[in-house]
Amino acid sequence: MRYFVVTGHRAYSTPDFRLDDICGGAGRMDILVRCVTSAFFLSHDIRKDTEVYLILEGGGDAPKTVRFSGKEIRYLNPDERSTASLIRNALLKKVPQEGEIRSSPGVYISRMSFEDVISLLSEKGEPVYLKEDGIDVRDFTFPENPIFVLGDDKDLTEEEESFLLERSPAKICLGPRSLHANQCVVVVHNEMDRAE
Ligand SMILES: C[S@@+](CC[C@H](N)C(=O)[O-])C[C@H]1O[C@@H](n2cnc3c(N)ncnc32)[C@H](O)[C@@H]1O
Repeated sequence: MRYFVVTGHRAYSTPDFRLDDICGGAGRMDILVRCVTSAFFLSHDIRKDTEVYLILEGGGDAPKTVRFSGKEIRYLNPDERSTASLIRNALLKKVPQEGEIRSSPGVYISRMSFEDVISLLSEKGEPVYLKEDGIDVRDFTFPENPIFVLGDDKDLTEEEESFLLERSPAKICLGPRSLHANQCVVVVHNEMDRAE
């Protein structure tokens, strides 16, 4: 399995945003939406071996986490608006204090924080921190179930970073330029595909 954890530092944890304003009114939800598209879509297929965790840290009911499962996902289309709609539909659900609930096939929502998600996934795989000052991805051997962790348009906060670093993740750099979060997702998939 390939896991991606993306921190949405201002991304709305409530459904009160317009689908035609996900860039402004939803706290840069557009970045998270593009990460979802990049994580799952191949030209004529969906990557079933992938899960994406979007950590929504903005708005009035944070934190919440929306999980997309490639194995189960339905109604995912390549356009940003319909993916944002899947997220907003999840946010319309009454989310319990503990555990996650299904919003639509392959889309789940919970009240997990960044720390909760990293702790949970660390039992299933190995965290890999995507960071410009890491070691070159081409000198790196991917673990079996990598958990790739990255920021949105901002890097992880100091608290998030130190929580992650306590787990001694590998820290890898994808190239000489700082990339957009969704571009990182594409490059990582491609590097893993080539390594396989
Ligand atoms: C748009 S960047 C965040 C801001 C960026 N660090 C800057 O200084 O402008 C989003 C995230 O993508 C990841 N990232 C961007 N470029 C990368 C690279 N070349 N190698 C590894 N990770 C990268 C990092 O996790 C970063 O937090």
